Amino acid sequence: MSTWWPSETSHARAVDLLFMGLLATTALVLALLFFLLLRFAIHYRAGNASADRSHRIRKSWHWEVTWTTATLVAFLGLFVWGAQQYVELFGAGKSGLTVYVVAKQWMWKAQHLGGQREINELHVPLSHTVRLIMSSQDVIHSFFMPAFRIKRDVVPGRATDLSFRPLRAGVFHLFCAEYCGTDHARMTGRIVVMQENDFNRWLSSQDVTGTLAAQGERVYRQLGCGGCHGNGPVRAPKLEGLYGKPVPLSDGTIGIADEAYLRDSIVKPRAKIVAGYEPLMPSYEGKISEDELIAVVAYIKSLAEKAKRP
Ligand code: CUA
Repeated sequence: MSTWWPSETSHARAVDLLFMGLLATTALVLALLFFLLLRFAIHYRAGNASADRSHRIRKSWHWEVTWTTATLVAFLGLFVWGAQQYVELFGAGKSGLTVYVVAKQWMWKAQHLGGQREINELHVPLSHTVRLIMSSQDVIHSFFMPAFRIKRDVVPGRATDLSFRPLRAGVFHLFCAEYCGTDHARMTGRIVVMQENDFNRWLSSQDVTGTLAAQGERVYRQLGCGGCHGNGPVRAPKLEGLYGKPVPLSDGTIGIADEAYLRDSIVKPRAKIVAGYEPLMPSYEGKISEDELIAVVAYIKSLAEKAKRP
């Protein structure tokens, strides 16, 4: 059974079950269709004198209502089942071990919060929820892990979220599933699922130049962000304690300062202006690389955690 139906993640198990459900439903419909087809073909064949050919139609509305309702419920049920899986995978699962993934022609780069970087490989611990925040540096790519039944487009200019919990240690395929240029077919990698101890050992064995947040702080200094967001003469929103908080915007709506918000505010600062501030900030689109952007966002997140401590 397990060879045919492996359960590398809880999500994979759910997707397989849904797939079997779809297959069983369509098989039932197909069987019914062919049964009727054959039955009528045999019964009304030429020369069968016992068949009633007077074409009298006798049916009640009960029958119509019953079969229409039954099929509606069955197929809407499948839809609800699938939608629920979709929401679970791509919904607001904001907790878990965060790893940033950057796609570029033609490689996958992963950055751990501790500052560990890897290319075309992703090490994750067993039985922990892993949250990937993915972005692209150039064109649309698609992060595809067939064993986990997970595929998600990675779109330039946007951070996409994905959570999964591996249930079996081992090495699994990673593919790019969106045609992205010459070497698209070679944009492959490995997902390495390790026992927690091995994973921690792996983390500490990597060459690291400071945590991701520390790298972000360096970029923050280099770009002179503190000139406005620090205690300088220009009035700009404070970044300490900002992450995860609601932000009142100038158009009257309330935003939440999550990763996507921070990211957008750096790349497209005029799209969402914080209420009470002038739209003074220049866009950093093209002036900051994806790697740097991720590091700066991690730095701003770390400021929130610092602000929480007494
Ligand atoms: Cu990246 Cu195809």
